[in-house]
Formats: sequence, C-alpha cells, structure tokens
Amino acid sequence: MASFSFSGNFQLGVATAATQIEGGKMDSSWISWADDGHIKDNTSPERADDHYHLWREDTELLARMDIPIYRFGVEWARIEPEEGTFSEQAISHYLAELALLRAHGITPLVTLHHFTNPLWFEALGGFETQDNIPLFLRFVEHIVRSFGGLVNEYITINEPNVYAVNGFFFGDWPPGKRSFNRTVQVMSVLVSTHLQAYKLIHRIRSELGLAETKVGFANHLCIFVPANPKNPIHCITTSLMERFFQGSLSLAMTTGRCTWPLKCITHVVGTQFVDFHGVNYYARHAVSGFSDGFLLNVPKNDLGWEIYPSGIVEVAEKMYRIRPLPIYITENGTCDNQDLFRCRYLFDHLQAIAASPLPIKRYYHWCFLDNFEWLEGESARFGLVKVDYPTQTRTLKDSGRFYQEIIQNNGVTEEMYAHYVDRQAYPCIQRKDFAK
Ligand code: BGC
Repeated sequence: MASFSFSGNFQLGVATAATQIEGGKMDSSWISWADDGHIKDNTSPERADDHYHLWREDTELLARMDIPIYRFGVEWARIEPEEGTFSEQAISHYLAELALLRAHGITPLVTLHHFTNPLWFEALGGFETQDNIPLFLRFVEHIVRSFGGLVNEYITINEPNVYAVNGFFFGDWPPGKRSFNRTVQVMSVLVSTHLQAYKLIHRIRSELGLAETKVGFANHLCIFVPANPKNPIHCITTSLMERFFQGSLSLAMTTGRCTWPLKCITHVVGTQFVDFHGVNYYARHAVSGFSDGFLLNVPKNDLGWEIYPSGIVEVAEKMYRIRPLPIYITENGTCDNQDLFRCRYLFDHLQAIAASPLPIKRYYHWCFLDNFEWLEGESARFGLVKVDYPTQTRTLKDSGRFYQEIIQNNGVTEEMYAHYVDRQAYPCIQRKDFAK
C-alpha cells in the first residue's frame, strides 16, 4: 500500500544536539578532539550550524515546517565553563530560545548530556568514576530549576552505550581509551547517573509545584544478526553483542536492575526510572566479532549503514517487553548527502510505525538540519534542511517538504507517495562496510 495514516495522538517532530548545531569556541571534549585532528574532513564543532546565533531564524523555520515537538540539547561546557561556575548569560540564551519555541506552540524535549563534556570534567576523570556523578547532578539541578515550567520533559543521557563504546572500547571518540573493563565501568557509572538524575528531576519539579514531568534517556538500539547464521562463533558473538551493547543497559537504565556485564554502583530506591522509552534507531548490523559490520547486498545509506525499516518496531518492542510504557522514537534518520532516498526512508520507517500495535507516541526525525556528524564532520548530511556551512544558508530539502506534508496530513496520501517516494530507490551494499 502506498498510503497510511497515524492514529489520533501520534506526533512527529525533529531532533538536534547542542554540539552538532550550535557552534562556538569553548573548552569541551569534542572541540579539543577536533583540534587534535581526529575529524575526517578536518572540520570542528566550533563552526557547525552557528545555531547559537541563528536560533531565532531556526525556530521560525521549525514553526514554518509545522513541527509540534522538538528535541534539542544544552551544552554543559557553555553553561558551566568552570567547575561550579554557571554562566547566567548561557542560561538566559536558552530561556529566550525556549520562550520562542513555546510562543510557536512547539513542545521542547531537552537532552542534558549528548556525548560532550566540559574539559574540566574530563580532567577529573569524567564518567569513569562514580565520584564525579554529583558534578553532573549539580548541573542537572541548575538546569531544571532555571528552566522551570518552560520544560517539562527531559532526556538525561543520550546513548550511554555509544558514548562508552566509542570513547572507551574502540577509542576513536574522546577520551580515546581502549579497554573492556573501562567501558563496562563507564556504562555502570552512566546507569547510576541516570537513575539518580531521574529521581532528582522528579524531586525538584515536585518541590517547585510543577506537573507533567516526563524523564527518560535516549537508548541507541540496533538489530544484530550473525554475519553467517551457520557459523556458531557468529551466533555466539551476536548474543554477546546484544547483551553487552544494549540488553543489560536497557534493563538497568529502565528498572535499576544491573546484570552482567554491568556493576551495580549505587543503590537507588525504586523499580522504574523512565516515564517513556526513548529509542534511537538507525540500522541492522551483521556480527562476526566485536566490530561493526553490515550484510552484503542490502539497501545502504551514504555511510554504508544498512537501511532496515522494520527494525524500528523490532527494537521498540524489545523495550516494551521490559516495561509496557509509551515509546518515543527519539532519533531516526539517515545520511543521504544528495537527498536522493530520504523520502523513501521516511515513508518506510513511518509506515512500519503506523502499522505497529505498540504505543509509539512520538517520532523525532534526526536531523532537523545538516550538522556536525562527529568523526565524519560536516561531510555526512542527515538534515531535512540543507546547510551551506560557509554562508550558513538554510534550504528546505525535498524530504523536508515531504515531512511537513506528512505532519499536515497525519500520514502519507497516494498523491504524496507518487510525488515524493515512488521514483526513489536505495543504494545497495556490495562490499563489507564499517560504521563509526
Ligand atoms: C547520535 C547523533 C548522531 C546520529 C547519526 C546518534 O547515534 O545520537 O548524535 O548524529 O546517531 O550518527
């Protein structure tokens, strides 16, 4: 079928992250990582989309696209440039941005940690030690009190597994370490941080008399399959990867129960630590060892990641089985530098959601704008809006127009399918490719 519509209260929005769009010079882990020459195209988050200055224009653009919900992040290194010193200027900036979003009827979902740390926090050992958890909680408290009723919904930590694995197992993200034990330690500290942050946000907001608090984390979930299902080693490593990368973490962050390989660092009273399941979904991965591969002869994006639309519902179901809670797809999108197949990607993933009986309530497309894509820098484009980096010009892509029409129609009509999707086809993987 070439058309579908969503059930009544489903909402479509877009997501961004502070480091990837704001720009600006500050003492943060990712700016220093870029200064040290780790970014493939030699760009730096110092430029990105200059959203810190162009926030008014960008917010007006969100409103023109009829976006009702927006997930974005705040930059810790900007708000607390030195340990214990908070920049009131930075807070006022975010308050103005939030007020404008609210004036347009856009509901914000704020991410408190999205991969980047202030350098002073890194110097103290970051999330490698539980002693530093109170430092992050102090920042969280400052934000939640300052934002008050302008923000009712928070993501504590974005993708603890990606942060830990890339920074401490593969070592190609800051701080560039390579150790299994350290990776597990960081994951365990992040679990404890989230559990405490969840409680703290609820406590502060109820002290302030604020209602409708929703707190969760954004969980990066993959579909893992054995590269060769007849190879027993591939089958064993697939279930180990499932457990190590996402299974234990999903359980612990949601319920507080730590199972192998995680260590229980602090006991936090309670059995539920999310008000919704935040699901970030991108791809299906083929496992042959502890690395990141893809199947051959399957649809792929410009980074070689497999496009596997039914996976979005499969991973959502995994979370629903842990706890039957509302599901928000907090990220889903693709690297399509020429915007040649993003409409088909949107259609296929959203159709899978529309057909699912699961309570998937929201979908945030990654990304609103082309942005600084970590190790890939500016070269990997995920946006519904094109950004010309030297001039900072924004241009709505075809996929952006399609997305706007999906919002307006609460689904895809036959006419929209014929106009945007029908002619599009995915590229195909012919060789073994590796992701970030
Ligand atoms: C991250 C984003 C990133 C996206 C595409 C997610 O893992 O949260 O920051 O840009 O994937 O790679």
